[in-house]
Amino acid sequence: MPEQTSPPPSEDAASAVDPALLSAATAAVTALPRQRDQLLPAFHAAHHAIGWLPRPAIELVASHTRVPVSEVYATATAYSELRLEAPVPGQWQVCGGLSCQLAGAHALHEGQAERTTMVDCQFLCALAPVVVDDHEGLHGRMTSRVLGDLLEDAP
Ligand code: FES
Repeated sequence: MPEQTSPPPSEDAASAVDPALLSAATAAVTALPRQRDQLLPAFHAAHHAIGWLPRPAIELVASHTRVPVSEVYATATAYSELRLEAPVPGQWQVCGGLSCQLAGAHALHEGQAERTTMVDCQFLCALAPVVVDDHEGLHGRMTSRVLGDLLEDAP
């Protein structure tokens, strides 16, 4: 007799989505035309409503734009500004793209390792090094002193 296994959870508790946020995302996405070329606007609508793209948001975008879930997910992974994991409150991101590395991004991160993570290029390379705050605000030409001050003032 084959061993029975339980189905994998669709979301873990840490990444569960607030139903009110998902409802807001649904309203924003379904206000768009049901066309494949609305994929990026749908991503942005869902991301803006929820703050990241959990699996239900990916499925919502796929359903509304009539694009396969696998293609929607693959497309979402190509845009570093789209979060596919729930943001950690209070955690900032230091861009780890080449321009930012050359401008001292690793030193910024290492100086605030408990409050920051490294992320892919944020496409503001001319403003390197770039830091993203926990409300998706972008800060260019960052210095260790300014980052320390901003983090000290942040909740
Ligand atoms: S390398 Fe940091 S914004 Fe592009």
